[in-house]
Amino acid sequence: MAGKPARTPRGLLARCHNIADLRAVARRRLPAPMFHYIDGGADDEWTLAHNTRAFEQFELVPRYLRNVEHIDLRTRVLGFDLDMPLYCSPTAMNRLFHHRGEIAVAEAARDAGTLYALSSIASSTIQEVGTASAGPKMFQIYVFRDRSLNDDLLAACREHGFAATCLTVDVPVAGNRERDLRTGMTIPPKLTLKSLFDIALHPAWWLRYLTGPAVTVANVAHRIAEGSASISTVVEYFNNQVDPSVTWEDAARLREEWDGPFAIKGILSVDDAIRSAEIGASAVIVSNHGGRQLEAAPAPIEVLPDIVDAVGDRLEVILEGGVRRGNHVVKALALGATACAFGRPYLYGLASGGRAGVDRVLDLMRAELARSMALTGCTRISELDRSYIRRVQAPLP
Ligand code: FNR
Ligand code: LAC
Repeated sequence: MAGKPARTPRGLLARCHNIADLRAVARRRLPAPMFHYIDGGADDEWTLAHNTRAFEQFELVPRYLRNVEHIDLRTRVLGFDLDMPLYCSPTAMNRLFHHRGEIAVAEAARDAGTLYALSSIASSTIQEVGTASAGPKMFQIYVFRDRSLNDDLLAACREHGFAATCLTVDVPVAGNRERDLRTGMTIPPKLTLKSLFDIALHPAWWLRYLTGPAVTVANVAHRIAEGSASISTVVEYFNNQVDPSVTWEDAARLREEWDGPFAIKGILSVDDAIRSAEIGASAVIVSNHGGRQLEAAPAPIEVLPDIVDAVGDRLEVILEGGVRRGNHVVKALALGATACAFGRPYLYGLASGGRAGVDRVLDLMRAELARSMALTGCTRISELDRSYIRRVQAPLP
């Protein structure tokens, strides 16, 4: 089948056969605030749940007797030649989930031949990730109130081999994450009576956390005013540091300043996709931030076809949000996406087993993808089109 054979997983990871299995392991391994920070979404989590369920509105109609012995998953995304059409979205503070954090994810993505995206509020620096992985790398931008910080970050990206950037537009203000309020999730985690109790339940995590180097917002911590760098909820952090007055003029300026591939992340409307094309973006990332921002936002897979029809001939259209199975990727590609990305699944892997856990997630997804392609009757991504899709009216109960 496609590409490298899956490595042989060991121990607990060998008993994980899909993303849901890895999520269950992550849930046991992590202190509750960290698990729910990954797993949760905004308000009632309707959009979070709908992101995955919405794939049920599309069925795959296969064709047979077509020689599917060799499946080729290679594709080109944002100027990178990738071995598979699924990459790792930017996610914050990965060292809270495993002590090797972003480095483990970047290494796993590199070895899977795919793209790694580093968050603006990662817990590893641009330099550390650049040194650890020579693979394809993208940096995700939030526009900070202190604009000179953005210039410094982009300079570091150029220096350390990040060839592409993406601007996340769907966090003008932080979403309402009620699980974080309930668990008392703060950055960095604070020691309370409850967390002392939690230490007894997750001693391995706490030992690493308390004895390792401090977990910080590594790329920006040195520029955050004294005092505000200390404990805050994600909402407080955002509302203090990230500029809610950002406009399309800022996006256009960023596009001009960055001479490589540049994507706009968080697009859900045809209007905004057209604006992205007009300012010369290389791609739109159709996303609702994994249901963590605007509750009631549509699922990316639902709005994808109209966005592809409007701008697909002018820029790449990437889909993320709710992707948990290889067949989800096949559906998105058949509807016209260039590639897909995902966040929580690889974080469950990271929390479950560090580097080996992320390898397991990428191996499972690659195998599922290749199998779904073969069963659909397509050997190359370019063969997938809407003739393989049947739209059904509503998700099955
Ligand atoms: C995110 N996401 C995100 N996006 C971004 O642009 N910058 C960031 O710092 C983060 N941080 C972050 C942390 C965590 C814990 C999660 C789960 C997500 C959103 C991420 O890039 C992506 O849009 C979603 O994860 C996609 O949805 P799925 O794949 O998690 O369903
Ligand atoms: C999140 C922010 C940090 O989704 O992007 O948690």
